[in-house]
Amino acid sequence: MKTTIANVGQFVEKEVTIGAWIANKRSSGKIAFLQLRDGTGFIQGVVVKAEVEESIFLKAKNITQESSLYVTGIVREDERAPSGYELTVTNIEVIHESVDYPITPKEHGTEFLMDHRHLWLRSKKQHATMKVRNEIIRATYEFFNKEGFVKVDPPILTGSAPEGTTELFHTKYFDEDAYLSQSGQLYMEAAAMALGKVFSFGPTFRAEKSKTRRHLIEFWMIEPEMAFYEFEDNLQVQEQYVAHIVQSVLTHCSLELKTLGRDTSKLEQIKAPFPRITYDDAIQFLHEKGFDDIKWGEDFGSPHETAIADSFDKPVFITHWPTSLKPFYMQPSKENPDVVLCADLIAPEGYGEIIGGSERIHDAALLEQRINEHGLDKTAYEWYLHLRQYGSVPHSGFGLGLERTVAWLCGSEHVRETIPFPRLLNRLYP
Ligand code: 4AD
Ligand code: MG
Repeated sequence: MKTTIANVGQFVEKEVTIGAWIANKRSSGKIAFLQLRDGTGFIQGVVVKAEVEESIFLKAKNITQESSLYVTGIVREDERAPSGYELTVTNIEVIHESVDYPITPKEHGTEFLMDHRHLWLRSKKQHATMKVRNEIIRATYEFFNKEGFVKVDPPILTGSAPEGTTELFHTKYFDEDAYLSQSGQLYMEAAAMALGKVFSFGPTFRAEKSKTRRHLIEFWMIEPEMAFYEFEDNLQVQEQYVAHIVQSVLTHCSLELKTLGRDTSKLEQIKAPFPRITYDDAIQFLHEKGFDDIKWGEDFGSPHETAIADSFDKPVFITHWPTSLKPFYMQPSKENPDVVLCADLIAPEGYGEIIGGSERIHDAALLEQRINEHGLDKTAYEWYLHLRQYGSVPHSGFGLGLERTVAWLCGSEHVRETIPFPRLLNRLYP
């Protein structure tokens, strides 16, 4: 019976054949242990010299790392194995012999591994990280579909710049100028006026010359947008959504989290509601913590974010930021127009901002004024202003950065390991 490593549990004490690769191997004169992987998981194959034909034992002894094979064997339950099963090998059919696989079990430097990203993806921790990423995506669709949101796909090639003009990737669009999307938000606002509650999931691009462990040039964002949702409604969607993805990963990726050595006790506490702190209070808190240099009106760096996050055991919303620090579309507070009705959600354990969101300006005159103040080309935003001219309503939304969320849940040092093929400041290869 042909099966996969993930499904061997259905065939205990039965003979199965699995298409696999050799992740690692160790052998003595009498026994060979093959670490097999097939994409669905990892399992150990045991080849006992006395129990198989001579030629099969020789194949097992000589097989090289990352060779591909069909391996046949009897599935055994084994409590010591991470997956709970082991394979007593009865036959080996080598498909392709791999020679001098560059990533050996010894330590390699990060640059070397990044140059071999196309192969590095096969490694156990990278495999686990991609599975967690996939679970977050699955749980995202599950959450928003259950809550009555419609998935809408905004364009990638655009003529507008929601998050400021300094970080745009420019390209020619025949005779016109175009940019790669920094955020689908403006289009999602149009979609929310048509469909009520919508969400997008797609790649976004920032020509940011940042070389930090949290910045990618190309990253994937989930952007919900809701008509008739005001500031507080928006925060509630965010905390419920984030709690849902964390709990889904804990439920469905326990093996992967173990492979990654992730301390899950901290994740188990992640349930709604999440704490909130205003920017004003955050400034005061930072002063109390000895960050004397930060002044009202300045943006937070990652040491500031981490100091705030460390005083909570859940993600924390920092709300009501100075208007001058935030994009043109954010709704000012009624009580104090110097601050906007926005929130950044900061992940615990130093993983930084995972969500940026806000209520949007729904007054046409104010929005037009902001477009002018920000020096944006009004003609590119005419359609966006229409949304405030024909049945304007309060509305809100947010964007969750997928890679930073994967990094947090996996405990990854750097976001470059959370996306299959990272685009970094100095990296377009592979
Ligand atoms: O805070 P940002 O820039 O917000 C927006 O783009 C809004 N238009 C979203 C919305 O309201 N629909 O980005 C949102 C999130 C950040 O919190 C962060 O998680 C992630 O996107 N992000 C990045 N992730 C990796 N690399 C980068 N260079 C990122 N820039 C933002
Ligand atoms: Mg932000």
